Amino acid sequence: MMAPDQSLKKHVADLIKPDRVHRDIYTDPDIFDLEMDTLFSRAWMYVGHVSQIPNKGDYITTRLGPQDVIIMRDNDGEVNIFHNRCPHRGPHLCGNSRGNTKRIVCPYHAWSFTLKGKFFGMPFPEEYPQECLKSEFDLTRVEDVEIYRGFIFARLKPGGVDLMTYLGEARSGFDDIIDRSPEGEIEIIPGAIGHRYRANWKMMFENLNDILHPMGAHASAATAINSVSNPAKLHPVTKSLVGSSKMMPVLPKLQSKITRYGHSYATGLISVINQEIPKGDHYHALEKAYGAARAEEILKTDRHLMLIYPSSNVNGAQCTIRVVRPLSVNETEVWGYAFRLKGAPEEVTRNSVFYCNIATSGFSPVVADDLEIYERAQQVHERGMTDWVNVARGYRQEADAGRNAPPPATSEEYIRNQYRVWLEFLTGDAPCQA
Ligand code: FES
Ligand SMILES: [Fe+2]
Repeated sequence: MMAPDQSLKKHVADLIKPDRVHRDIYTDPDIFDLEMDTLFSRAWMYVGHVSQIPNKGDYITTRLGPQDVIIMRDNDGEVNIFHNRCPHRGPHLCGNSRGNTKRIVCPYHAWSFTLKGKFFGMPFPEEYPQECLKSEFDLTRVEDVEIYRGFIFARLKPGGVDLMTYLGEARSGFDDIIDRSPEGEIEIIPGAIGHRYRANWKMMFENLNDILHPMGAHASAATAINSVSNPAKLHPVTKSLVGSSKMMPVLPKLQSKITRYGHSYATGLISVINQEIPKGDHYHALEKAYGAARAEEILKTDRHLMLIYPSSNVNGAQCTIRVVRPLSVNETEVWGYAFRLKGAPEEVTRNSVFYCNIATSGFSPVVADDLEIYERAQQVHERGMTDWVNVARGYRQEADAGRNAPPPATSEEYIRNQYRVWLEFLTGDAPCQA
């Protein structure tokens, strides 16, 4: 990727206004390349969980911004991340999504590497200058790797704030999953479910904290769900995914929580509608471990879809994470993972898997609704049918009240917050500072 010229950065700065954004940010391949080179290379990205690689030699492959990477546990138990690329002629080293190995061996000419990414051996080494064999052929290592309570984060280009500063209060999204385990431990359930959509990655981040959109976008899914012959038999997760117009009056009472680096979540639903928490087996397991008051507090925790900008989103109550992978300016992949809470009843695990499937599968009527909207908007932007996209909901009130007042969840301030940090990453010459 060539270094972006300054005129592109200047152009990008003209595309973001306080209450609207230009369609080019969804359609211009040069801007997508700039996003990869800046935001997706300099931000801390969630890449996996330690339970995916519990043993020495375990690895998973994934994507870190523009790079394909291998996340590997070495013989000292350390987690290393390498570019998934052979230093000889360049093909991917690992084609599997996960596995276990004693050495990393290239499938092309069998060069091999240790679990710490050091060059180990090759056929006919005498044909190379000896100094090359010392380090030039080691795998490229991702230097900035940090683990927060088992959740692995990485940053392709070193520099900028540390992970804790970057996450800020958003780290509570990860705490929320762990807190729900009576043993304080979780593990990822092997496997993942995913889908691709033909639209820009930012559409998903704009949508997930949009608490108004279910009334419109999911109306047909709601009609279908409400017309089943025995609604009482519907899975509670299915019912909870579809908003109802009856919720409209309470929505302005919910709050939006927004952090410095583009993260956000909506909260307040449980207290506003005075929802009782079920006192079933999960509650009793938590009560036994932590006492009644703490058990109630844990299950009443109400962070709806914590957006971890720009890599992922966490649903603490459903113990799931979705990872967003931009493939090109108009193609995006989303992968969902469910967690098992150690010490919790099996029903909690089943619900997490059920939620993960229905929130991430392209066959889910709810996901299909959202993808239809993203793709319609992408088509309009690509055809140049409009220049500006409005993100002004709540803007005037917040401008009057001052930015420090917490916005209601009906506000689009969380989107404007995303674009403030997006602009900072894309136009800054140095990593974002605190
Ligand atoms: S390309 Fe990997 S060993 Fe030749
Ligand atoms: Fe939706």
